[in-house]
Amino acid sequence: MTTETAASNDQGERAESAEDRVRIFDTTLRDGEQAPGFSMDRRAKLCMAQALEALGVDILEAGFPQASPDDFAAVDEIARTLRNTTVCALARCQSGDIDTAARALERARHSRIHLFLSTSPLHREHKLGMSKQQVLDTAIASIEHARKYCADVEFSAEDALRTEPEFLVEIFSAAIAAGASTLNAPDTVGYTTPAEMVELFTYLRRNVRDAHKAVFSSHCHDDLGMAVANSLAAVSAGARQVECTINGIGERAGNAALEEIVMALKVRAPHFGLHTRIDTRKLFPTSRLLTQLTGQAVPRNKAVVGDNAFAHESGIHQHGMLKHRSTYEIMRPQDVGIAETTLVLGKHSGRHALRQRLETLGHTVDDDAMEGIFKRFKALADRKRDIRDEDLEALALGQDPDAAGPWHITQLTTSSHLGSGASATVKLSHEDGREVGEAAIGDGPVDAVLRAIERATGTEMTLTRFNVRAISEGGDAQGQAQMTARHAQRDWNGSSVSTDIIEATAHAALAIVNRIERQAERSTTDEYSQGRPLFDSRARGHAQQETSA
Ligand code: KIV
Ligand code: ZN
Repeated sequence: MTTETAASNDQGERAESAEDRVRIFDTTLRDGEQAPGFSMDRRAKLCMAQALEALGVDILEAGFPQASPDDFAAVDEIARTLRNTTVCALARCQSGDIDTAARALERARHSRIHLFLSTSPLHREHKLGMSKQQVLDTAIASIEHARKYCADVEFSAEDALRTEPEFLVEIFSAAIAAGASTLNAPDTVGYTTPAEMVELFTYLRRNVRDAHKAVFSSHCHDDLGMAVANSLAAVSAGARQVECTINGIGERAGNAALEEIVMALKVRAPHFGLHTRIDTRKLFPTSRLLTQLTGQAVPRNKAVVGDNAFAHESGIHQHGMLKHRSTYEIMRPQDVGIAETTLVLGKHSGRHALRQRLETLGHTVDDDAMEGIFKRFKALADRKRDIRDEDLEALALGQDPDAAGPWHITQLTTSSHLGSGASATVKLSHEDGREVGEAAIGDGPVDAVLRAIERATGTEMTLTRFNVRAISEGGDAQGQAQMTARHAQRDWNGSSVSTDIIEATAHAALAIVNRIERQAERSTTDEYSQGRPLFDSRARGHAQQETSA
């Protein structure tokens, strides 16, 4: 395990806080993924991790290995795959957690162990039952233990914004001395304001001993809608790492949205005088990829990546735009990876034109995936006269590897009966050679299709969320069906796109069944379930925290 991103603790001459680059620490796959409705399986996490590396994030928090064998496996796989990005694993200040995190990171090129421990009086008293001194001693011992594995150790003082600032100074000073090179002051409950953030970071940077040896970091939650503003305030007061997630997903109201922070720093560069390494043209495709993988769309009016972010409806605005773009646009859609043109590909277009267009839209597609996309493009072009950029994006995003088998739909028929429900017949084929057909009636066509699929595959699931939306325009627009279903005490997401919303629904439901089945297959073949001890069974420290940060 090596590290290249840590500030040098030993020499201490790199004054990170004086630099003008803000490190982007992405926690979509940890803080984001742990929020209800956003869970991703291993393949989805790997797919997202690769997109985040291509986007240019500096540090990617891949998970919390001690939380579950799945989390461990995801971190391990991401660590083995990424080449440039530092892969980070979260751990409580407990030796078992740290050992497991280190094992999951063993094959990473660049790795970081991220330790967290609550410091606020509320948490010390009610969650940990620890005194200040115990918190301090535990943090120091854990940092020293983690440093035996990894040169790059981050320490987070959980609930920092409700912690006595003097105690933060004490624990951060000790953390630096123990070997931490990144100090994170999270606003765990989204309580603070920008002015308070500036005050705290200024105070910390002035008073923490050897502050120049560490990078100060912010980690803001959005409970009061101030996560991005608070993160930017921290940066303006010297923080040089921001922890954030794509689309702002995360615990409760979410984390600070990566795309908003990055674009604020870019658009207002003269104000902040700072930059990041993010390739902003990949922001929109990465955001879309996440919505596809989780089945959770962003609101239309979401800053930077929402459908309306660059749409101008009112006559006055349109008139202004036509005269001069900057009248109503502070950034160009292309800067975030949204192509502007309404295009013009049709059923006579070839692979080359399609690939080129997809590339302009920010999707790099390998030859294998291209074949599938091209086939679906041709099928779409037969049904639809005008194929727009949104259609192409939908096709490219449909390449989610999780959308693959083992079940495939070979036939689907539905009929609605006014006043008396609907019926559906499905025929499915399984990669093991089975062909199954089932019919069902339901309250409507969606219900009937779901019941028929449940019967045919023998997978029981309870639909907890269902949403259909048009993702392109016109009478022959493509619709995206997104659903979440409960099975074996877990939420599973599926989504699919088609010009026929019932077909999209059937494919989304089948994507869920396929995920459930593939997960079951993996659990029986995984090395982790074959008796290899994953977790340290040594007794843990005095205070047991939840394994969900
Ligand atoms: O919000 C929080 O405090 C966290 C820590 C684990 C950094 O997510
Ligand atoms: Zn958090």
